Amino acid sequence: MGDGDSKGRSAGPGIDAIRRYDHAILSARDIETGYGDLQVLFGVDLDVRSDEIVLVFGPNGAGKSTLMRALVGTLPLWAGTVEMNGDDLSGLEANEMVPRGIGYVPQTENVFPNLTVDENLDIGTIHAADPEARREAMFDLFPRLADRRDQEAATLSGGERQMLAMARALMPDPEVLLIDEPSAGLAPQLIERTFEYVDRVRESGTAVLMVEQNVKAALAVADRGYVLDVGENRFEGDADTLRDAERVRDLYLGK
Ligand SMILES: Nc1ncnc2c1ncn2[C@@H]1O[C@H](COP(=O)(O)OP(=O)(O)OP(=O)(O)O)[C@@H](O)[C@H]1O
Ligand SMILES: [Mg+2]
Repeated sequence: MGDGDSKGRSAGPGIDAIRRYDHAILSARDIETGYGDLQVLFGVDLDVRSDEIVLVFGPNGAGKSTLMRALVGTLPLWAGTVEMNGDDLSGLEANEMVPRGIGYVPQTENVFPNLTVDENLDIGTIHAADPEARREAMFDLFPRLADRRDQEAATLSGGERQMLAMARALMPDPEVLLIDEPSAGLAPQLIERTFEYVDRVRESGTAVLMVEQNVKAALAVADRGYVLDVGENRFEGDADTLRDAERVRDLYLGK
């Protein structure tokens, strides 16, 4: 539980209280945003601590991708704050987030299909201190990419493309990587492997905030998770607690 401090509703270690963490690297408070007249998020809180894998899950249309966009500044905040290591990032544009230590892999269109693996990684080097060292680190993390460095991204398998998308976002060596549905569209046997890679990213020193629909497999690698429903925090808890909670199972885990 650490430095968790609960907000509203019932206190204690249950999943109803949305704990707040004082020493998080990434902290979002009371985030509201949407599109035009459509409000999608109604005051969402979220923390990611260094060395954590944090999972966000919930029904289609809950606002999970919208939350990621709000965190990385591709969507303006209507209210609330985003802080990174105590610095207020609210209102910064997406291109100002990378130097602040935030990497982002969107749900779709996350590689340049007509560029090779190497060229895709080059695009991530703009903010990298030592591009060649980072490239080697990425090939250590994802050896399959090294064998395919001259291959166009469009010709990679789904799993390889997802690795490339992660590698590209990791080139600047972010403190936290936001990944939206890394296992989407992958064959069942590749899903677990994707989460093994996510675990390796964390092992390499980058915290991970991940949105996923394959909740059971994602909870197996995650430390903690948030259930988002209709643009609000519904539950928060350690991965084991969420997985075992009947209400989470009934409502969000299927069978
Ligand atoms: N660019 C957009 N313009 C208008 N409305 C949008 C836009 N993107 C998303 N929405 C709407 O915002 C709501 C939340 O969408 P969002 O993509 O954040 O959900 P999600 O939880 O990521 O869903 P999924 O699990 O299907 O990926 C939905 O009602 C959606 O129709
Ligand atoms: Mg989504």
